[in-house]
This record gives sequence, C-alpha cells and structure tokens, in this order.
Amino acid sequence: MYRSEFYVFEHDQPKAAIIRNYTKEDFGQLIEIQSECFPPPFPSELWWNQEQLTNHVELFPEGALCIEIGGELAGSLTGLCVDFNPNHMEHTWAEITDNGYIRNHNTNGNTLYIVDISVRPKYRKLGLGKLIMQAMYHIVIEKGYDRLLGGGRMPGYHIHNKQLTPEEYLDAVVKGQLKDPVITFLLRCGRVPLGIANNYLDDEESCNNAVLMQWKNPFK
Ligand SMILES: CC(C)(COP(=O)(O)OP(=O)(O)OC[C@H]1O[C@@H](n2cnc3c(N)ncnc32)[C@H](O)[C@@H]1OP(=O)(O)O)[C@@H](O)C(=O)NCCC(=O)NCCS
Repeated sequence: MYRSEFYVFEHDQPKAAIIRNYTKEDFGQLIEIQSECFPPPFPSELWWNQEQLTNHVELFPEGALCIEIGGELAGSLTGLCVDFNPNHMEHTWAEITDNGYIRNHNTNGNTLYIVDISVRPKYRKLGLGKLIMQAMYHIVIEKGYDRLLGGGRMPGYHIHNKQLTPEEYLDAVVKGQLKDPVITFLLRCGRVPLGIANNYLDDEESCNNAVLMQWKNPFK
C-alpha cells in the first residue's frame, strides 16, 4: 500500500502532508470534497456514493489515494485498471469507469485510468493536485502498466464555444494562448493530450467534451 509523508508550503508556512490510500473511515470527507468541488450546474448524482467508494477500496485499493493536511482530507484521486487499445480511443466516462462503480476493473489491464481527481477549494494552488497525480505515476511504475490515462474536463470551453471548436480550444490551451482550470493543470502535471472525446460526461461547462490525456510509463 502507498504512504508518503512530506511538507507542503502554504504562503511560506510548511504544513505536514500525507498521501495514502483511502479507507471506509474517509468516505464522509470524500463525499464532502465532491460537493465542494463539483457544485451546480454539475449534477449532484455524479458525486460519489457509499457503494462506489466501497468498490474503489475493495476492487482496486491501490488506485484509491487521498491527501491529508493536519488531519483533514484535502483531496483525492481514484483510478481503475483497464485494457486500453490506442487504436480504439472512443469511450465515455460512464463506459470506461462503469459509472464510477469500477466493477469492470481488469487486473490484467495495461492502463491505469483516472476516475476522478478533486482538491478542496481552500487547498488549491498549493501543488497538492500535482503531488497526488505524481503518486499515481508511482503506482503505474510499480504495477508495470503502460500508461496513466484519463479524460480531462475542459470547464473553460463554454466561454469560447461560439468561436472555437473543442479541438481549436485545446490547441489554444496547448499553445498557451488560453488557460483552462483543468487542462492547463493536467499539462502542468505532465499529461499529454491524445484527442477530444465528445459526449464524454454530462458537463455543461465543458459542453460535454473532455480531452483524453495520457502519461506514458517512461520505463516501457
Ligand atoms: C484541477 C484541480 C484538481 C487542481 O488541483 P490543485 O491542487 O489546485 O493543483 P496544483 O496546485 O497541484 O497545480 C499544479 C499546476 O497546475 C496549475 N493549475 C492549477 N490550477 C489551475 C488553474 N485553475 N488554471 C491554470 N493552471 C492551474 C498550477 O499553476 C500548477 O502549476 P505549476 O506546477 O507549474 O506551479 C482542482 O482545481 C480541482 O479539484 N478542481 C475541481 C474538480 C475537477 O474539475 N477535477 C477534474 C476532473 S477531470
């Protein structure tokens, strides 16, 4: 199992942090984090429920990570293992994550697929999202998977959807002409775009689009 203890800096003040696997005792706080991270218009039915979280810790506990600051959970990152064929990229979030229930988790798969990443608003921009993503890269290497993959929401797209196609918007973000709260974050985490997935998730701000973004295991 995974456990890493270190310090993060909040305005020059070191704070003790832990990245570890989450367990049943953390479910209450994990659901609270989801409600803070995905407020309306995001559909609240898509927040975690007890059954999904139970599946995460029972079916693939290695892919269930949280970050704790001073005894409080500040964020989480959840994955499952799938067998991904780069020549057949089309999928939706619901299909590939089994609606977040991960009953399709495949122990013989080649790809660690991200179901969700959330950091509480008050703990954002401290580097926690990037650190927990790096922790998941450690799991990819330790398990010998080919890659980490996930569909990144593009919540800034609705501001530009009259002028730009999703592909043009992504291009502008990659060129640094536009910043997106999720895609720019994922680029800064080392993730590389493979293409746009239309109708990926019921997500007004992204006009239902996502960017498939991978991190390849450098040892493979
Ligand atoms: C996306 C999210 C997880 C980022 O978490 P975070 O802890 O604030 O991110 P970090 O502080 O680790 O940022 C890492 C890098 O991304 C950049 N970044 C973070 N948020 C950003 C934003 N809103 N706009 C542009 N860049 C951003 C940071 O500047 C940092 O760059 P650096 O490493 O070069 O200094 C967080 O904003 C979140 O929970 N959002 C809501 C949930 C969500 O939409 N999740 C994605 C589902 S696909």
